[in-house]
Amino acid sequence: MSKRLSLWRNARLVTLDSARGWGLIDDGALLVDGQALLWVGRSADLSAGLRIEQEHDLGGALVTPGLVDCHTHLVYGGQRALEFEARLNGASYEEIARAGGGIRSTMAATRAASSDTLFASAARRARGFMAEGVTTMEIKSGYGLNEADETRCLAVARRLGRELPLSVRTTSLGAHALPPEFEGRPDDYIDAVCRWLPAQNAAGLVDAVDAFCDRIGFTPAQTRRVFEAARALGLPVKLHAEQLSDQQGAALAAEFGALSCDHLEHLSPHGVRAMAAAGCVAVLLPGAYYFLRDTVLPPVQALRDAGVPMAVASDHNPGSCPTGSLLLMVNMACTLFRLTPEEALRGVTRHAASALGLADRGVLRAGLRADFAVWDRDHPGELAYAFGGNPCRRVVAAGVEHAAGNPS
Ligand code: NIG
Ligand code: FE
Repeated sequence: MSKRLSLWRNARLVTLDSARGWGLIDDGALLVDGQALLWVGRSADLSAGLRIEQEHDLGGALVTPGLVDCHTHLVYGGQRALEFEARLNGASYEEIARAGGGIRSTMAATRAASSDTLFASAARRARGFMAEGVTTMEIKSGYGLNEADETRCLAVARRLGRELPLSVRTTSLGAHALPPEFEGRPDDYIDAVCRWLPAQNAAGLVDAVDAFCDRIGFTPAQTRRVFEAARALGLPVKLHAEQLSDQQGAALAAEFGALSCDHLEHLSPHGVRAMAAAGCVAVLLPGAYYFLRDTVLPPVQALRDAGVPMAVASDHNPGSCPTGSLLLMVNMACTLFRLTPEEALRGVTRHAASALGLADRGVLRAGLRADFAVWDRDHPGELAYAFGGNPCRRVVAAGVEHAAGNPS
């Protein structure tokens, strides 16, 4: 038997290891071998005679899978507090974008920042999420909007995964907004995005490809070209779809076997059916809905009826959702979108992992990654119910406990 065995016992495990239910195991234990869970079950059923190197008594605390934030724009320069104020004074998010603000203003700040500065600010944000139990994070580019700066942002995201105890998945989102140098020439810009993708991919910087298909983003025809370039490289796609209007983007993404379609406030019944048929995950972003004061709800009941798995993510970005808390999104998914607490927690674990194409996490099960969070709570429903504090006490990522989970 390996010498690296560690035992975490006296826990109330929320395994989520079945299609429905919390999968609670009282007086549970987790046996960790290196980076993986070797055994998960009731302490009483643990075989005797194991050579355990380290033992942790969790005092009956709740343990969930490590949280997965499957949609973030974590790497950027500057902030947009003035834009927030402009919106309070009556300007709309779309008006600000059309006037050259919005994503373009973050683009300017991002281009002007050094890679070290971008790394430092993103690492600070990442640590905040990690302290709340996040062990996997997706990070998109999309604020560089030229080859050098897009590639630089993806490299910063990769560096975060190397230097922090956090598993990072990168998504290339060159087709996020039209940079000023391509004003009036969106098709030429899409050509450029498709041209630089192979080099980004060859450098190992891309796990998936995304686009913003909307009135202030790109058309379905332009999005299709980005998806074709991704497909030619064997890269999976995802889409910012039907956030501000129905562009039938979800159906287009489904045609390309997208891992996920995200936002979805304006998703049509046709889009729901297409996603269900393609096995595409619906990533709900209640923080952006809240912060933009949207009034059109995503069709949660239709997604549920169609059996589309629903994930919940932070969408952390400086314009539509400058949040530092995935747990707050869990609460908002319940209050604003009427998910059940169980659906919402599944949305930031199991289904969020699926939205990233990851089958090795999101559930407490032998053989999967030893990613878990220990909570100062009795019941998992409390993680969705309370908002504003941080009940996370310890975080283990790939078998290693890190200090971010232990704020003192
Ligand atoms: O997911 N919708 C497009 N992209 C981001 C917002 C980007 C921004 O405003 O900076 C989103 O909401
Ligand atoms: Fe987004």
